[in-house]
Amino acid sequence: MRAIQITQETGPDTALAIVDIPAPEASHMLTPGEGVLVEVHAAGVSFPELLQTRGMYQLKPPLPFVPGSEVGGVVISAPDGAAVKAGDRVAAFCALGGFAETAVAPEFFAFPLQDELDFAQGAALILNYHTAYFSLVMRGRLAEGETVLIHGAAGGVGTASIQVAKAYGARTIALVSTDAKGEVAREAGADEVVLVSEDWKDRVKELSGGGVDIVLDPVGGDRFTDSLRSLREDGRLVVVGFTGGSIPEVKVNRLLLGNTEVVGAGWGAYAMAKPDVTRTIGAAVTRMIDDGFIRPIIGERFPMERAADALRTLDERRATGKIILDVRPA
Ligand SMILES: NC(=O)c1ccc[n+]([C@@H]2O[C@H](COP(=O)([O-])OP(=O)(O)OC[C@H]3O[C@@H](n4cnc5c(N)ncnc54)[C@H](OP(=O)(O)O)[C@@H]3O)[C@@H](O)[C@H]2O)c1
Repeated sequence: MRAIQITQETGPDTALAIVDIPAPEASHMLTPGEGVLVEVHAAGVSFPELLQTRGMYQLKPPLPFVPGSEVGGVVISAPDGAAVKAGDRVAAFCALGGFAETAVAPEFFAFPLQDELDFAQGAALILNYHTAYFSLVMRGRLAEGETVLIHGAAGGVGTASIQVAKAYGARTIALVSTDAKGEVAREAGADEVVLVSEDWKDRVKELSGGGVDIVLDPVGGDRFTDSLRSLREDGRLVVVGFTGGSIPEVKVNRLLLGNTEVVGAGWGAYAMAKPDVTRTIGAAVTRMIDDGFIRPIIGERFPMERAADALRTLDERRATGKIILDVRPA
């Protein structure tokens, strides 16, 4: 099969090779001896793959390896008891190996793909939407009628978080760096859009009548203190990632003075060790698709030969929605 491998950890320009290698067996590292084999049509491109080209991600297999954490495609084979069977359209999280014509996922990470969604949207469904649900609902305790500020709101996690928050009856304020990204956030369903270049903290306080209930933060960096100041009493700042580059530090007296919380949300390690949690989140995501709240926003799409360009869109802050590798023609 054709696949993209990371052959050296020298960054997206030089780390990748397109290769012809044997297709994987139906066995996944999380469920040895068992797995759902998928004929891959579209692969999602995300920060883990970018970080892996630099050897900077926690999942660090020996070189060379095929990256790619999630796919949309058709089931080739599935173990007894799986939610999918041969021939079904599927959205699957494989952690590694997605940038290839055939990939393998654990049974608990393979979900039937509804007719409303195409393969690219299937490849955009698990990492971002499961993270959004985990961060907002399970870690952030989102309640109906609350207001949520979302950083990086035009990105993959950002657009997913807007849609999940709306599904739970929240009001959403999207924080973005450009007007074009504001349009993407609005397309995802944001109620309000604020630019980072504005005096954004004051604007957010004004729009929320004094402060938001939750800040969803995949960006980190020097915005963190203003994020804390944007919370109302009992507010929660949910830490999701650090695309801004630096890991912020918090002076805990701010939490005492404001009666606020900082909450960590690390979906991957949590979900991989708990299949039942993943099934619960998967069922919630399925309901939100059926109810019309979830429609993944697809950004740029690339053929396999241009995998490096796909990773560069993330690296250069140009990505909107989910970046897709079309493994088979769309
Ligand atoms: N905790 C978890 O379980 C979990 C799960 C999935 C992903 N993540 C993490 O969440 C983060 C976001 O992932 P994503 O897929 O949403 O990425 P993305 O689509 O590229 O969006 C990230 C956003 O970050 C903002 N940003 C600010 N400074 C940036 C910079 N220097 N370089 C790039 N972007 C910058 C950009 O928005 P503006 O230009 O509008 O500021 C961009 O749209 C990543 O760090 C990822 O590893 C965490």
